[in-house]
Amino acid sequence: MNVSDSERISSVLARQGYEMIDNEASADVVIFNTCSVREKAEQKLYTRVGHIRHSDRPKPVVGVMGCVAQLEGETLLKKIEGVDFVLGTRAIGRVADAIAKTLKFEEPVVDLGEREVDYDWTVADKYRHSPFVAFLPIIEGCNKFCTYCIVPFSRGRERSLPASEIIRQVLELRRKGVKEVHLIGQNVNSYRPPTDSGLEGFAGKSPFSRLLRAVAATGIERVKFTTSFPRDFHDDIVEAIETHDNLCNWIHLPVQSGSSRVLAAMKRGHTVEKYLAKIDRIKASYKDVALTTDIIVGFPSETEEDFQQTVRLVEYCGFDSAYIFRYSPRPGTPAYELQDDVSHEEKTRRFIELERSQKYMQNRRLQRYVNKVLKVLVERKSTRTSSGLSGHSTCQKVVNFVGKEDMIGSIVDVKITEIKANSLFGEAV
Ligand code: 5AD
Ligand code: SF4
Repeated sequence: MNVSDSERISSVLARQGYEMIDNEASADVVIFNTCSVREKAEQKLYTRVGHIRHSDRPKPVVGVMGCVAQLEGETLLKKIEGVDFVLGTRAIGRVADAIAKTLKFEEPVVDLGEREVDYDWTVADKYRHSPFVAFLPIIEGCNKFCTYCIVPFSRGRERSLPASEIIRQVLELRRKGVKEVHLIGQNVNSYRPPTDSGLEGFAGKSPFSRLLRAVAATGIERVKFTTSFPRDFHDDIVEAIETHDNLCNWIHLPVQSGSSRVLAAMKRGHTVEKYLAKIDRIKASYKDVALTTDIIVGFPSETEEDFQQTVRLVEYCGFDSAYIFRYSPRPGTPAYELQDDVSHEEKTRRFIELERSQKYMQNRRLQRYVNKVLKVLVERKSTRTSSGLSGHSTCQKVVNFVGKEDMIGSIVDVKITEIKANSLFGEAV
């Protein structure tokens, strides 16, 4: 989501005549697009702004955007010296105005307001992270209020984009040669558009599964989506994937914990049993759907037994990959009021143990790809080998292989010969 936000910040500025440059030291404006999901990300901002202030370069205009900006607002100006503007998560469309006002009035600008009604969600071609892959936000914000999470506060309530606008953008991207769209949002499957316009005639119980079918019908080569919220994840999504070849076989379904007691304390709205029933349905699919997840270790009151239940869940599910996090108390969240009673050392021990189990399962799970042929969207030359190319499979694996440079931008068959820790290696067939 942050990469997508950055692409749109660059695009808004490009429309006003600004240009992105690689060399931060000679930039006239430096913008930090921030994350506040965990404390570490926030700390980075303080260090980076400090570096600029203490260097002997001409002072650039410094802006802070994203979640830290939204949450801290004006107090950020007091906390960090040298910040010229603070723009919240819905103020991307006004970034050029903020720079202009800063320069004209020589005083800081703070804008934590809502999105403009006519906000333009499109990304300029040259600022997309890949010419062949596009991120497309379909829903922003979050209404779930998991007790540990700051996102509902930093990104506000859920708002879905009209389906007709999403379809228009996908058709436009397809026309420009984009091969793969990622429908993104904090919880894509909570998608609830203001009207049914654009979804008429598409099957599926939930608006999201109907949207998936509508996007598939545009004929774009590949559609991926992330993140899905377990409580709102129903069979109709798997059925849509099974029906349409261009809906990719990858689902990211964060579980957070393998203990139903901890899940209740996190207010996730699902138990372990309910989660596993969804996993079983996905695994029963003939399509071999790759599964990935997020897990937090060391949530307040998490016992060794709770943690061992998480280890067992990881062993049962056999995730293709998992993002594991140590619980980080976020001021303003309900869990912040609880005692952070799992020590840092213990969190680290659990993190390492869980990661070891996951890596073991991951390795076993990835073995199934050896000697299989995967369709790879070739995105770039590989940084690892001189004659290598790199891209992603439909199941969202990084695949490195030896091939010709003119394959970049196309989808090629690659036979997998080797599995690495987080990627696959193969040869074009
Ligand atoms: N501490 C640790 N991890 C967190 N996440 C969200 N909030 C916190 C927190 N306070 C993790 C969750 C989420 C992912 C994006 O970040 O696992 O799914
Ligand atoms: Fe945070 Fe929960 Fe919303 Fe995900 S669903 S963004 S974890 S509050």
